[in-house]
Amino acid sequence: MSPQQAVAAVVVLAAGQGTRMRSTTPKVLHEMGGRSMLGHVLAAAAPLGAGTTLVVVGAGREAVAEHLAAVAPAARPVVQEEQRGSGHAAAVALAAVPDLEGPVLVVNGDAPLLTTGTLATLVDGHRAAGSVFTVLTAEVDDPTGLGRIVRGTDGDLLAIVEERDATDEQRAIREVNAGVYVANAATLRRVLAGLATDNAQGEQYLTDALAPLAEGGAPVAAVRAVDPDDVLGCNDRRELAARRRTLNDRVLDELMRSGVTVVDPATTWVDVTVTVEPDALLEPGVQLRGRTTVATGAVVGPDTTLVDTTVGEGASVVRSHVLGAVVGPRAVVGPFSYLRPGSDLARGAKVGAFVETKNVRVGEGSKVPHLSYVGDATIGRGANVGAATVFVNYDGVAKHHTTIGDHVRIGSDTMLVAPVTVGDGAYTAAGSVITQDVPPGAMGVARAPQRNVAGWVGRRRPGTAAAQAAAAATRPAEGAAGPGPVTEGADRPAAPDVDHEQ
Ligand code: UD1
Ligand code: CA
Repeated sequence: MSPQQAVAAVVVLAAGQGTRMRSTTPKVLHEMGGRSMLGHVLAAAAPLGAGTTLVVVGAGREAVAEHLAAVAPAARPVVQEEQRGSGHAAAVALAAVPDLEGPVLVVNGDAPLLTTGTLATLVDGHRAAGSVFTVLTAEVDDPTGLGRIVRGTDGDLLAIVEERDATDEQRAIREVNAGVYVANAATLRRVLAGLATDNAQGEQYLTDALAPLAEGGAPVAAVRAVDPDDVLGCNDRRELAARRRTLNDRVLDELMRSGVTVVDPATTWVDVTVTVEPDALLEPGVQLRGRTTVATGAVVGPDTTLVDTTVGEGASVVRSHVLGAVVGPRAVVGPFSYLRPGSDLARGAKVGAFVETKNVRVGEGSKVPHLSYVGDATIGRGANVGAATVFVNYDGVAKHHTTIGDHVRIGSDTMLVAPVTVGDGAYTAAGSVITQDVPPGAMGVARAPQRNVAGWVGRRRPGTAAAQAAAAATRPAEGAAGPGPVTEGADRPAAPDVDHEQ
């Protein structure tokens, strides 16, 4: 053990069935705040700098081991073939590292609210007391289901008694076992080897390690957690929801203390992996997940989900769903936008209502204000993409790229059939199906010329309201000429024809 290591090893107990979760997912893999429960425990323990981290796996071992490889590749899974209790699990872990000496942190894998600070306090208390076995405890209002800390009249530690094995008098005790221990490796090995199974569950309880040590006069100790929430385990879905809420409250408290405005903490959910800068504002109904970062002055929400997304200074994202995107400084998104991975909006860009984007660079100040699909494209600066434009990127086999130059104006309802390029300063006519490149400064028109068939409604839909309205509109006024002639092929150049938001 090197001097900067607080403990020689960390052992996480994660082999239990988790029966009370009623889930096909192993209990410790249930997620809250952007990490699995196991991930939270490992993250809390990581700063202790243990040379060895062992995770005891059993129920759902393949899934847990696979998860470990992804989130904590340095941690080593140790298989407990049969779940014969927490004491047996700890013994199996120690057997995997026979040469290990020094203090070992043993922690339940279902304690997602543990903090590094609390673990460090436990380790310090263990060392200061010269203890061979130190248990983390907490004083709680409702100790139901937890192991009770039994002390003698002088306050000395005597035993940890599981609720099922406790007397009525012991059940009244409100100091409980957190399921977190620091013990000397050699002592723990020895005492675990002698554990009996004469308890209500017929298991080897890790908690039974304390009494024989205390009886034999070995130095044992208890350290009380300052925040009793830290030690709360999670055994069923109701506890999962409660722990998630507590974790979220902690994350939001920290953000608010740092200068972030959270309008409605009750409906705002932020993963522990998210960064939000001071003077950002989170409206109600916001979820910030994964590696999301929100810069100062940005406004997110209401009713917005951001996953692995970067939001720049002063940007705004309203009522939108955003995955793996970059929203540049002062860019504007929403309401009702769907940004998918690879969407990269430069400074001051705009993506508006009912627009879906994917794998696209939207250049500085460029706008896609309404009702469009923009996929696999590069859009230059100062361009405007008219309403209902579709970047037709998929031919049924492969995806193709569209390039839009600077200051281009794409007319409403343009189909840009990729691969295709619209040069700098070019226009496309509304309703065009653009299949060929449009050179810089040109107007691309690709639509059938309009022809009006005069009197068609009167002849083909006689007696309808439309026919009557048409008749009234075309009835010759006193002394005026009859209806106008058929106009065909009126080929005036088309401008992008809807009222674009500027
Ligand atoms: C345990 C403690 C209890 C404490 C509570 C804190 C015991 C006997 N009791 O109770 O005193 O108050 O935690 O939350 O330890 N495990 C294995 N292999 C097994 C059995 C369990 O790895 O064979 C693991 C579980 O995955 C879990 C941990 O050990 O992470 C504790 O087991 P669990 O069944 O959750 O114990 P509790 O009844 O919660
Ligand atoms: Ca538990």
